[in-house]
Amino acid sequence: MQNKGYPEEFINRVRDASNLVDIAKGYLPLKQKGQDFWACCPFHSEKTPSFAISAPKQFYYCYGCHTSGNVFSLVMKMENLSWREAVEFLAKKANIELPQTTNNSDWLRQRQKKEKIYQALLLARDYYCRTLQRPANRPAVEYLHQRGIDDELIKLFHIGYSDSWQGVVDDLKSHGISEQLMQEAGIVAKNEHGRVWDAQFERITFAIHDVYGNCIGFTGRTMKKDDKLAKYKNTAETIVFNKSNIVYGVDVMKEKTRGQSMAGLIVVEGNVDEIAMVKHGFPNTVACMGTALTKFHAGVMARFSRVVYLCLDGDDAGQHATLKSIDVLQDAGLTVKVVVLPAGQDPDEFLQTHGADAMQKMLASSIGGMEFKLDYLRRHSDLTNRVGKAEYLNQAVGLLATMASSAERELYLPDVANAVGVAVEAIRNTLNSQLDKAVRPANKKDATIYSGNHIHDNHNKPKSTIPKKILDAEMAITKAVLYDREYARALPKAELPSLHNPIYQKIVTEDLKLKDIYDILDEKELATIEPLLGERTGQAAQAEVREWEDCVNLLKIEKLKQTLSDCKGDIVATNKLMKQIKALENLKHQQKVED
Ligand code: CTP
Ligand code: MN
Repeated sequence: MQNKGYPEEFINRVRDASNLVDIAKGYLPLKQKGQDFWACCPFHSEKTPSFAISAPKQFYYCYGCHTSGNVFSLVMKMENLSWREAVEFLAKKANIELPQTTNNSDWLRQRQKKEKIYQALLLARDYYCRTLQRPANRPAVEYLHQRGIDDELIKLFHIGYSDSWQGVVDDLKSHGISEQLMQEAGIVAKNEHGRVWDAQFERITFAIHDVYGNCIGFTGRTMKKDDKLAKYKNTAETIVFNKSNIVYGVDVMKEKTRGQSMAGLIVVEGNVDEIAMVKHGFPNTVACMGTALTKFHAGVMARFSRVVYLCLDGDDAGQHATLKSIDVLQDAGLTVKVVVLPAGQDPDEFLQTHGADAMQKMLASSIGGMEFKLDYLRRHSDLTNRVGKAEYLNQAVGLLATMASSAERELYLPDVANAVGVAVEAIRNTLNSQLDKAVRPANKKDATIYSGNHIHDNHNKPKSTIPKKILDAEMAITKAVLYDREYARALPKAELPSLHNPIYQKIVTEDLKLKDIYDILDEKELATIEPLLGERTGQAAQAEVREWEDCVNLLKIEKLKQTLSDCKGDIVATNKLMKQIKALENLKHQQKVED
């Protein structure tokens, strides 16, 4: 296995320094029998131990669920880390310094900066927590109590308070943190006289953590009922705080559900909703902090569960965010269930008025993503007249046409038919003719072949039908983008087909560079692109540029061929495409002759 930039010798040193038995002891109560250690398996639920660790082999195996692995994979699973992060986690534990290699120095520099920021934020978090407990700040504690947040929850969620402009600055300075770093961490802002001040002044601070447990920033609530003040104020964007991927409460969720199998992850909007859910016995909850979900949120969530319950506010904004989030989650391969709360209520209010059992019932009666979409469409359609009905029908059929399974489509036909009062048969006919017409976009073909967690129709074509030269060309193009080659910057993306590997496609469309990918891709995704991560330094040779042009042309031809198969019967279009293909093929031939 390639080691993603770390020398083999370093990996071995970390492995040698990390005794599997000692590491496992941190997570599981172990019982020794001879040279083996036994525990109840953390990866499936059981009452009698079938999880065995062999000390001499430094290997674990579960006789129940057949999970096995070494110290790295155990840490990956228990801490929800990527392989690389697990290596770093264990290196840190063993006091082994990370090696500096030319391959990852950019990434390391960024990493070191981030570490400093985490450290500053942790100090600030603890300062705020201490400040909340000062007698003078009793009103803040009472405010929290009155909202149902008791002392235990205050501690669990690291809730604090800022009572002065300067307090946090002085405290952090006494720990050797510079004003510059405080600013980079988003803890302070600078006024026009160059003086820094606490960005969370006079707010209750809710510490926000990432999936690894680092404090990455705060959301601060004002206790004042002043419309001119924002109710919540978040830490400004920093290199560790980006609102599009923050999952509030992930630290508590991870801690409280460790070693349990999760039936689904619940997503609420607000931080107070999150706290109320945990309080009422739903530790498998996180909050998206009032934004619609992005693929980054989805990526974090997918680490914990394949099923997500969207339980957003029962107001227009919440319902709209639900609608937008469904596709994002499904595109990440997750199954979506939707909990529709009574109008105007958020989970916190719902729990306060109806209690945990009622919430449990809401979860049990959640609906699927398609059902929600159709429901939403109906609620937002005017079905009192024919124009409105026709519009609704059109859109509803359009929604049904996006479903892969015809059996599943059948399930929803009666609902749509009933809403407008026409026969199911009529809707089925409309749907079928729309399905016939719909030319499936050429670039969707085989798009999911490499990703195990996508659920679309990737069985139609066996992997072996993709010519190797195409796959090689896709790889070369992705690699050039990843390594930021000069010639790759003018890539004619629109003229290329979708790359077969969705991760390659992501790198190319989002123009991801080597230094970004470790933060953006998860372990599984990194594993797919391992073949790309070789040395590539210095100036591009002439031959490399020519090779590149060949690859681009090859893929351009592929795209044209796909278009060709879509316009069968149209002689004019076919002729035009054939000419374009010929021209591209000749281009390659000429190059060969020049050589
Ligand atoms: N939010 C924000 N900025 C605001 C308002 C809201 O960032 N000005 C985020 C917060 O994370 C908040 C979430 O959006 O928790 C949901 O907003 P909202 O429903 O308005 O607040 P509640 O969670 O109900 O807050 P509270 O119960 O404290 O009033
Ligand atoms: Mn609320």
